[in-house]
Amino acid sequence: MTTLTRLPADYVQNPHEVHDLLRAEGPVREVILPHGLKAWLVTRYDEAKIALTDPRVSKNVQTGGHLMAKHSTQTHVRREIEPTLSVHMLNMDPPDHTRLRKLVTKAFTARRIELMRPRVQEIAAELIAKLNDGDEVDLLEAFAFPLPITVICELLGIPIDNRDDFREWSNQLLTFGTPEQVKAAAGAMAGFLFQHVTAIAEAEPNDTFFSALVHADDSGDRLSTEELISMAFLLLVAGHETTVNLIGNAVLSLLKNPEQLQILKDRPELIPASTEEFLRLEGPVNVATFRYTLEPVELGGVTVPADEILMVSLIAANRDPQRYENAGQLDVTRSAQGHVAFGHGIHFCLGAPLARLEFDVALTQLLARFPNLALAAEPETLGWRDSTLIRGLHTLPVRLA
Ligand code: HEM
Repeated sequence: MTTLTRLPADYVQNPHEVHDLLRAEGPVREVILPHGLKAWLVTRYDEAKIALTDPRVSKNVQTGGHLMAKHSTQTHVRREIEPTLSVHMLNMDPPDHTRLRKLVTKAFTARRIELMRPRVQEIAAELIAKLNDGDEVDLLEAFAFPLPITVICELLGIPIDNRDDFREWSNQLLTFGTPEQVKAAAGAMAGFLFQHVTAIAEAEPNDTFFSALVHADDSGDRLSTEELISMAFLLLVAGHETTVNLIGNAVLSLLKNPEQLQILKDRPELIPASTEEFLRLEGPVNVATFRYTLEPVELGGVTVPADEILMVSLIAANRDPQRYENAGQLDVTRSAQGHVAFGHGIHFCLGAPLARLEFDVALTQLLARFPNLALAAEPETLGWRDSTLIRGLHTLPVRLA
């Protein structure tokens, strides 16, 4: 038996403290979130992996909508996302998930990603060239955000002039905005993407990623317009809300641990492998990812009944002391393989190779050009965005040198 625990109002600001306490007591705990949702929070590594692969645990968006309404006490946690944006693979179980993932994988090949390296390097270099020694900037605004949003917009063939609109819409959709704000942002995003998808579908096929996706054909099976809009939405949001925070969270961790920063400055060749440690320690998404039990499921001796919401905390699993020694500490030389920051099972992040490439390029260029960059604010004053989906700072003020 577990007891129902009310998570503190500042849970999203200090999730690690809460997770450490709960994890020490058991693998799963029934909780009430500050916004009024009742769910089962999974904090241990082994049980998180089981929950992410058990076929009795669903990611279906309709089931989710129904259970969110059933288990929440406040209306604003019931996220009525525009249906046109919801028919994407991260909201589906097999066989629908299998079908969509197969079609998109055809266009999102490892070769296509690796071919992007010179362009990613060029974009990063252009951004860095605009910055000067002695400047005080918000690193998210000046560097960490424009890099991945430019890359994903180019992949999807979307004009970069629209990027501020996307950032605004995406922020409204991922954080706890009012239902009116969420609806307006979703409507605007869906409208824009409809026009974009239609234009690409009517144009001659070419060698770009999004054209390949629009025209992807698996033995006669094609993506419908609605599926393409949802897919573009998923790629756009997943493609920038994540990497921006991986860069931001990693730089903050390094500036708080100067001896670790020194290691990477002395041995930049360690940067690609250290990516896994930054993902493990302060993964940029999914304070918890939501799942729904279709039948009773036993996790580490705790039976979660059917029709319940599971919150599988990837950032808690990644700090499980049973899995990683000194789990709460940054160690850029450790092997952090096996972390679940990109998820686990059938929904494992499709964009992982691109995210790793972007992070490697970003950190390498940043440390080479500004080896003495420093925080321009007390770490305690930096706030985290109000979301259980993303783990990212509002701003990251730094002094460049
Ligand atoms: C799925 C993390 C970057 C596209 C996921 C999931 C995680 C994740 C945890 C699984 C969610 C779940 O099971 O609930 C990350 C992190 C990133 C990143 C940490 C960067 C550091 C990207 C990028 C793209 C992308 C750059 C695309 C360009 C996707 C897609 C899925 C996904 C399409 C859904 C896959 C499916 O449902 O089969 N990502 N992601 N991600 N990610 Fe990423």
